[in-house]
Amino acid sequence: MAKFVHCLLLALLPAALAAPAPAPIVAAPHPMITARASLTDRTPTRVQERDLISSIEGFGSYLSSVLGTFPSYVASGVPNFFQDFPTGTAVEKSLGISSTDLAATPTQVLNIPGYANWTDQGWNLRFRGNVFKQPNISESKLDDLANVFLVGTSIQQLPPAEQTQARNLTAEIYVVQQGGVNVTMNIEPASSQGSDGTAGGSNAITAGGGAQNITLMGQTTSEGDFDQFLPLKNVSGPGGYLLPGNATTSIQRLNVFTQGTETGNATSYLVPEAGLTIISDIDDILRITRIYQPADGLLNSFAKAFVPWMNMPDIYANWSKSIPDFHFHYLTTTPEQVTRNYMDFIFKTYPGGSFDTRPLNFSDVSATLSIRKFLLEKIFQTYPKRKFILIADTSNSDVMKDYPAMATEFPNQVQCIFLRNTSAIDSGDKFPYDTSGFKNLSQNQYMFFLVPDDLTNLDIVNGQCYNTTIKQNVTFSYQGLPFGLGKKNAAGRLDAGWNGLVVAGLVMLLGSCLGIL
Ligand SMILES: *[C@@H]1O[C@H](CO)[C@@H](O)[C@H](O)[C@H]1NC(C)=O
Ligand SMILES: *[C@@H]1O[C@H](CO)[C@@H](O)[C@H](O)[C@H]1NC(C)=O
Ligand SMILES: *[C@@H]1O[C@H](CO)[C@@H](O)[C@H](O)[C@H]1NC(C)=O
Ligand SMILES: *[C@@H]1O[C@H](CO)[C@@H](O)[C@H](O)[C@H]1NC(C)=O
Ligand SMILES: *[C@@H]1O[C@H](CO)[C@@H](O)[C@H](O)[C@H]1NC(C)=O
Ligand SMILES: *[C@@H]1O[C@H](CO)[C@@H](O)[C@H](O)[C@H]1NC(C)=O
Ligand SMILES: *[C@@H]1O[C@H](CO)[C@@H](O)[C@H](O)[C@H]1NC(C)=O
Ligand SMILES: *[C@@H]1O[C@H](CO)[C@@H](O)[C@H](O)[C@H]1NC(C)=O
Ligand SMILES: *[C@@H]1O[C@H](CO)[C@@H](O)[C@H](O)[C@H]1NC(C)=O
Ligand SMILES: *[C@@H]1O[C@H](CO)[C@@H](O)[C@H](O)[C@H]1NC(C)=O
Ligand SMILES: *[C@@H]1O[C@H](CO)[C@@H](O)[C@H](O)[C@H]1NC(C)=O
Ligand SMILES: *[C@@H]1O[C@H](CO)[C@@H](O)[C@H](O)[C@H]1NC(C)=O
Repeated sequence: MAKFVHCLLLALLPAALAAPAPAPIVAAPHPMITARASLTDRTPTRVQERDLISSIEGFGSYLSSVLGTFPSYVASGVPNFFQDFPTGTAVEKSLGISSTDLAATPTQVLNIPGYANWTDQGWNLRFRGNVFKQPNISESKLDDLANVFLVGTSIQQLPPAEQTQARNLTAEIYVVQQGGVNVTMNIEPASSQGSDGTAGGSNAITAGGGAQNITLMGQTTSEGDFDQFLPLKNVSGPGGYLLPGNATTSIQRLNVFTQGTETGNATSYLVPEAGLTIISDIDDILRITRIYQPADGLLNSFAKAFVPWMNMPDIYANWSKSIPDFHFHYLTTTPEQVTRNYMDFIFKTYPGGSFDTRPLNFSDVSATLSIRKFLLEKIFQTYPKRKFILIADTSNSDVMKDYPAMATEFPNQVQCIFLRNTSAIDSGDKFPYDTSGFKNLSQNQYMFFLVPDDLTNLDIVNGQCYNTTIKQNVTFSYQGLPFGLGKKNAAGRLDAGWNGLVVAGLVMLLGSCLGIL
């Protein structure tokens, strides 16, 4: 029965996927395939096979070898709606919203907490966000839309709290972005991050002055996005002036309020030239997502309240308290539309800091797979004299490639790389991961770890990144492959997070349909 339902679901999937985004189905671009996922079960212990996968074939060719023909966008491993949440007029059209109704709804702004670097012209602050309107969608329509996201269950089957959360997320995805809009920010010294009085992490201090209003250059993109660095004027305030970034080690906090809406408030950070920054991923390192377990991953992302991973908040709280002027930067490749939920969770649970997510124009397959590298390079280039701690988990193949690559590309800027080995303690993680990028790094620079406590008592400021009590097991090739799995049999796992989630969902459905799982 279950198998029948899965096969049925799978058969219905192409239609369901096509429904919310009526864009014409064009031939899928050739996907950039990364590590493969296994369809066969395996024990949670690591298998130390070298070079088991030497040539990587497309997920699409795997699917077509199993299924024969399949719609090209599914065969590419990237269902287009998930790859590319509807933007702009696609939402209006698919919901049948009239422009007068929409005109009557207030304009909202997603203002993503930014950071500034010190230049010849003074402080240079990054403004990044999105302008949108929230259409009034009926509950029954929201339920229909939510059900498209919920593979293997439906909103009607969820407990009430999860129904509310699923509707909330769906509503955030179905917004109408506003292109061609002028954006003005009112900037003021911030006594804390946000309105809840939390310390704001990093022992950041209130900027002495700097109150000013800045109109961004040009208008929002057709997708409603803005992303630019603009110089701040050194205006005095009650606490004096802004401190120059080459004469202080302190991080200064400024509030950035978007004019014309109460939805666009953020706290941004003036980060000195030299110092230590942690770039932290979120899914499966700061919260329990289990992205590698598709059914769980979907529910944990769409319906359940975000839950911190073990005692990770204590580790960060200790670093925030004990490391002077530590800059926290949260970098996730989750789609921009759901960033607000990620920020809400982080700022209630972890130290305050700046944020990065996947911009809306990164929507085609190759752009999606390169987004983490793009974002990492951007922040490294912004602070050529700072050192970075990079942290994430092993289920993201882009992390496995990009984190060690930063150590090569920006010599002396990567202080530590910490990777939670998700498959070592969660037998549900069947994604193999590639450690070859670490071959030329010194063991002092990185650590694969199992639980947050493995990070306790490390002197990361002075470069102690490796807890010698944690056995590493790294062979510098693919880890976690089921022993004896032939080269041709493994399915591809597309990159990080949300893409992987859907790909994995398809793999699971397929597996179940074919009786493999
Ligand atoms: C700090 O930066 C400013 C502007 O680039 C420069 O004029 C000044 O000489 C620098 N001071 C030091 C101590 O490097
Ligand atoms: C949304 O639409 C419903 C029904 O069409 C209406 O009752 C409700 O007042 C509307 N809400 C807003 C905020 O306009
Ligand atoms: C979703 O929930 C968040 C957090 O409670 C809230 O800020 C946001 O306004 C909600 N979004 C919608 C579209 O209801
Ligand atoms: C945006 O600003 C430009 C130049 O300041 C102005 O010409 C234009 O009319 C403004 N657009 C809107 C929609 O207000
Ligand atoms: C910024 O604009 C607001 C109106 O939105 C005004 O009240 C405030 O005085 C302005 N601040 C500065 C520093 O010009
Ligand atoms: C701003 O100007 C004051 C007074 O001239 C100066 O002491 C301070 O270093 C300047 N700060 C920046 C960020 O340029
Ligand atoms: C944003 O800041 C403004 C100005 O301080 C305030 O009135 C508003 O309530 C804030 N909005 C939120 C959601 O906190
Ligand atoms: C997306 O837009 C940003 C600027 O907002 C630009 O730097 C980037 O190159 C664009 N990326 C793609 C894939 O179009
Ligand atoms: C400041 O950041 C910008 C944007 O990333 C970068 O182009 C510039 O080189 C940085 N300036 C300095 C002095 O590091
Ligand atoms: C290493 O990991 C163990 C086990 O999680 C922990 O007890 C210890 O505090 C960690 N740190 C050091 C420096 O050993
Ligand atoms: C807290 O962090 C500091 C700085 O990295 C470290 O020296 C100390 O051992 C940590 N304490 C715990 C309990 O992890
Ligand atoms: C290394 O292998 C041992 C034995 O299989 C296992 O207990 C441990 O969790 C592994 N360590 C890591 C970091 O995966």
